[in-house]
Amino acid sequence: NALSGKAANQNGIATIAHRGASGYAPECTLASYRLGVRMGADYIEIDLQQTKDGELIAMHDETVNRTTDGRGKIRNMTLADIKALDAGSWFNDKRPMYAREEYANEKVPTLREIFETFGKDTHYMLETKSPDDNPGLEEKMWALVQEFDLADHIAVQSFSKESLQKIRAWDDNVVLFQLLWYNRHALISDAKLNDIRSYANGVGANFLRIDENFVRKVKAAGLLMFPYTVNYQVNMDKALLWGADGIHTDYPDRLKEVIEEE
Ligand code: G3P
Ligand code: CA
Repeated sequence: NALSGKAANQNGIATIAHRGASGYAPECTLASYRLGVRMGADYIEIDLQQTKDGELIAMHDETVNRTTDGRGKIRNMTLADIKALDAGSWFNDKRPMYAREEYANEKVPTLREIFETFGKDTHYMLETKSPDDNPGLEEKMWALVQEFDLADHIAVQSFSKESLQKIRAWDDNVVLFQLLWYNRHALISDAKLNDIRSYANGVGANFLRIDENFVRKVKAAGLLMFPYTVNYQVNMDKALLWGADGIHTDYPDRLKEVIEEE
């Protein structure tokens, strides 16, 4: 499959550390990504946003409100504004069980810093967020991937078809995932699958709304199927039984255990 020779373990199942090992450390920080790599994740997942001065940073939301001690929209803030924020104390408050004093020193990382830190030691699942509000995001991401010679170490996912098509036009080989989100029982037509296959290699869909038929249908269309975000081992087992090729999880250590028991 498209992951052969890329990131997948010996069973062919890819472990994706969702926003890093974000169950245990503040999401989208170097601490969280370090832990994900240490836990043996095949990919660290990175949500990309762009600052007012055009720097790419790892952050899920469009504002800094939830995951830092600041307030405001990323696109109205410079990188210097964002670097002044504490990106870890919120986690210590929210998850006292996993709190660590040093998390209070965590800063929001740039994509460049993440590539500098991990280089070719891991694979990167890059997510282009809100491409309409982040003009030029794909170009900047791609330039960094080239600069660090990481084309073989990345996959790109997006809810935006246009964003993925743009990247496909630059490179035939980069592994691309169309993200889908269902708020009711997930069903997918052959036409939709054929369309996705014309520009992407796989589908990411929310685990809670899919079932075995959905997974089989996606795979029968020749696409990889990566459910997100699966945090309980009983559900990881189920996703693997259905034939998932990879799983996004906040707890990569739990998934590694399940895969080893298979
Ligand atoms: O990994 C899939 C997942 O990241 C998509 O949803 O909201 O966590 O970015 P979200
Ligand atoms: Ca994401």
